[in-house]
Amino acid sequence: MPQRRKAGPCDQALRQLGDTRARPSIRWVAALTGVAELKVRDALAGVEQHLERLADIRARHEEGGREFYAQIRAPFELYALVRLLRPKFVVETGVSSGVSSAHFLLALRDNRHGHLHSIDLPTRQKAADLAATESPVSLPPGRETGWAVPTALRKRWDLHLGPSQDLLPEVARSARPIGLFLHDSLHTPEHLTFELETVRPFLVPGSVVLADNTNWTGTAFDEFAASLGVPVLRRGRSSLVGLRAPIMNGPASARARTPRSRTKR
Ligand SMILES: C[S@@+](CC[C@H](N)C(=O)[O-])C[C@H]1O[C@@H](n2cnc3c(N)ncnc32)[C@H](O)[C@@H]1O
Repeated sequence: MPQRRKAGPCDQALRQLGDTRARPSIRWVAALTGVAELKVRDALAGVEQHLERLADIRARHEEGGREFYAQIRAPFELYALVRLLRPKFVVETGVSSGVSSAHFLLALRDNRHGHLHSIDLPTRQKAADLAATESPVSLPPGRETGWAVPTALRKRWDLHLGPSQDLLPEVARSARPIGLFLHDSLHTPEHLTFELETVRPFLVPGSVVLADNTNWTGTAFDEFAASLGVPVLRRGRSSLVGLRAPIMNGPASARARTPRSRTKR
C-alpha cells in the first residue's frame, strides 16, 4: 500500500503557492539554525497566517504573465529562518519579482523587528511575451524590480537598484550586523566569492549565509565555508546551499553591534 505523506506544517500555503518544489525542508532549516525540528515546524506554520497575502503574490505573478512564482524553491524556509534567527538586518542580492523579498518581509513583519536590504540589477523582458531564450526572472513590460511584493509589506524594506559589485560594499557596511545573507544575483564563481567576502566582516555570530544556483558557481561556496571552518548545508539535492557562521568572525565593530539577546537565545 502506498505510504501517506505526513502532513506538513504549511501545506495550505504550499497549495496556495501551487508549486510542490517549494515543499519546505525542515531538516535543512534545523541544521542551519541549530534548533529542534519541532521548533522549525512551529516557525513554518506561521506562513499559514498569510494565505491571503500569498494569494495576492501569486495573482500578481499571473497578471505579469508568470505561471509559477517560486523562482527560489525555498520561500517558506526563508520565512522560517527569519522567524527563528530574528535578525536585525537581512541582506539579499537578486530580487526579480520579489519572491524571496516578500517572504523575508512577511517574517520581519511577524517578528516586529528587523529590516531587509535588497540589491538588484534589473534584467528586462524585450517584448510583450517572454521569448524562449529569455529568463523568467526578467521584468515583464511595465513592471519594476520587486513588482510582486505587496505594498503593505514594504515598510521594512530598502531596495537598491544597480550592480551588487558597486552597491553591496556600502549596503553591507550600513546594514551590519547581518543576521541572514542570500546570494541570488549573478551566478559566477568570481561574483559569488566577491559577495561572500564583502559581507563576511559584517556577519553576526551564528548568522546564516545562503546561495542559490551553486551548480553555476563552481567551488566558490565550498571554499568560503571551508575558510570559516563550517560545513556546507545543502537543501536536499538542489543547488541552494547554506552555512551557519561561526561565533567569532568579523571585526570588533561588527561584533560590538551584536544584539545581546541573540547570544542568549
Ligand atoms: C534569480 S533572480 C532573483 C530571484 C529572487 N531572489 C526571487 O526569489 O524571486 C536574479 C536577479 O538578479 C539580478 N542580477 C543579475 N546580475 C546582477 C548583479 N550583478 N547585481 C545585482 N543583481 C543582479 C537579475 O536581473 C535578476 O533580477
